[in-house]
Amino acid sequence: MSKKIDLTSEQDTIDLAHYIAPLLGPGSVVPLSGDLGSGKTFFVKALGSFLGITEEIDSPSFVLLKEYHCGRFPLYHLDLYRLKTEDELMDLGVLDMIESGITVIEWPRLAQEILPYETLRLEFGFEDSKRWVLVSAEDSLKEFFE
Ligand SMILES: Nc1ncnc2c1ncn2[C@@H]1O[C@H](COP(=O)(O)OP(=O)(O)O)[C@@H](O)[C@H]1O
Ligand SMILES: [Mg+2]
Repeated sequence: MSKKIDLTSEQDTIDLAHYIAPLLGPGSVVPLSGDLGSGKTFFVKALGSFLGITEEIDSPSFVLLKEYHCGRFPLYHLDLYRLKTEDELMDLGVLDMIESGITVIEWPRLAQEILPYETLRLEFGFEDSKRWVLVSAEDSLKEFFE
């Protein structure tokens, strides 16, 4: 199942995060795809605030991983752009993260094989001043589409 949503302003992306936050809990993994500047990190910042995280969330591109433990659940924010192998991903302890908290993954290609079945995937896109997101999910998350 999938649905394309226009994100005509930053507020639309914030609203999307508000809507998605209550669907997530420990074990949830949210792969975020889309080119540089498409709004992945912006979405995670908004998501974090709806999870009760008061710390500033910033891009993990240079450090691969940032984690936040001050919200309702641990939030693990990964950016795999610079990662070369699946082994490196395992060395980060990604399986433990998935078990204990909400894991959001920018540039998730290398994580494809280890993702749990029930993921809510977000693919952000933009062209000129238009922005959108394609949300797709398995059946168990179908409440999102109702
Ligand atoms: N509707 C929107 N949704 C998300 N970001 C937006 C939107 N409109 C403008 N922006 C801006 O676009 C930029 C997206 O950057 P970022 O989230 O870092 O992208 P990415 O992580 O995908 O590389 C932010 O500076 C944000 O302020
Ligand atoms: Mg980013």
